[in-house]
Amino acid sequence: MPHIPAITGTGVFTPEQVITNAELVTAFNAYAERYNAEHADEIAAGTLEAKAPSSEEFIVKASGIEQRYVVDKSGILDPTRMYPALRQRSDDEPSLMAEMALDAAQKALAMAGRKGEDIDLVICAASNMERAYPAVAVEIQSLIGAGGFAFDMNVACSSATFGIQAAADMVRAGSAHRALVVNPEICSGHLEWRDRDCHFIFGDVATATIIEPADEAKGGYFEIRSTRCATEFSNNIRNNNGFLRRSRPDGVADRRDMQFMQNGRKVFKEVVPMVSQHIMSHLGEEHVEPDQLKRLWLHQANKSMNDFIGRKVLGREPAPGEQPNILQDYANTSSAGSIIAFAKNSEDFAEGDLGLICSFGAGYSVGSVLLERHG
Ligand code: COA
Repeated sequence: MPHIPAITGTGVFTPEQVITNAELVTAFNAYAERYNAEHADEIAAGTLEAKAPSSEEFIVKASGIEQRYVVDKSGILDPTRMYPALRQRSDDEPSLMAEMALDAAQKALAMAGRKGEDIDLVICAASNMERAYPAVAVEIQSLIGAGGFAFDMNVACSSATFGIQAAADMVRAGSAHRALVVNPEICSGHLEWRDRDCHFIFGDVATATIIEPADEAKGGYFEIRSTRCATEFSNNIRNNNGFLRRSRPDGVADRRDMQFMQNGRKVFKEVVPMVSQHIMSHLGEEHVEPDQLKRLWLHQANKSMNDFIGRKVLGREPAPGEQPNILQDYANTSSAGSIIAFAKNSEDFAEGDLGLICSFGAGYSVGSVLLERHG
């Protein structure tokens, strides 16, 4: 008999440092002023465009984001630098992604009543990996003392739900018994803090999820009724950084496309219908009416995007608490966002309550996980 996979624990690691919109805008505007002064001649000659200032009002109105947690704010807020300043770690100490994931993993293990040695599959699913190899997941496997095997996967903002699907399928099939899926997202490392169109978007965080056979859960659990993943190629969210960088004509030059780039308006317009349709067909195939869902835990990129999706899926204005947002505090944390929303807003679920996690983003990609509470 195949096992029924269930989520029995979740954990969130939140960095200590916070950047408010006010701090972010002050730093950006100081940077823009410096840039404009340094390039005054080209700007006057019309060969270069002056940098326009950012505004707190725009950020809140366009995105709903009020602040973000980051692993280092000093480098980001330094107008002469505008990206995090992280110390070089020796190969003998944990990498930053592994350290963040470990904190979240320990919380998830404690919630599930499990130890690291009980895990035999670790998936590190995130938008970026700190190094090419060895896989960060294998390092995390070693840090928690897990057995079995581990691997990294990257489906950008949808990495968490794709990771949960992979883990759930393996637990169901028996190729793994108990899985840890971690999503350490150091988005501050790939955000272009010098671009006012997107400098407010991302924050850092790590999330963790334990997936094991439902009949072995030590307490209440969320049965994974089913998962659905879909992808459709698009260049509207893209980052061209990669291992071939030094081989190209301008090598390691400071190029805009080496950081996160997006055509925000197009993303908004194309991804909202794709995600709404995806959720509705997933529910339809499961014979679940949208009104039977107690909660949607959506990807946390933009408040209006979530409002649109909620309205489309439910066919009405979502009631307070039906699709909780955490993006006002965390900003967009890539794949981790929907898991933070789930981890922080699922304690009130009672026997038989249904909810759906959905993440979406670059690729394009979208993943949904239908959950039913038991115990
Ligand atoms: N401060 C002040 N004004 C700004 C600004 C800032 N920081 N950034 C942009 N503006 C200006 C623009 O220059 C533009 O001016 P114009 O109308 O004179 O040309 C105007 O504000 C509107 O800019 P636009 O980029 O069209 O804003 P938007 O309403 O589309 O909101 C996003 C921008 C990114 C919040 C929105 O497009 C979005 O949420 N997109 C997709 C979701 C996402 O973030 N995905 C991330 C990966 S999953």
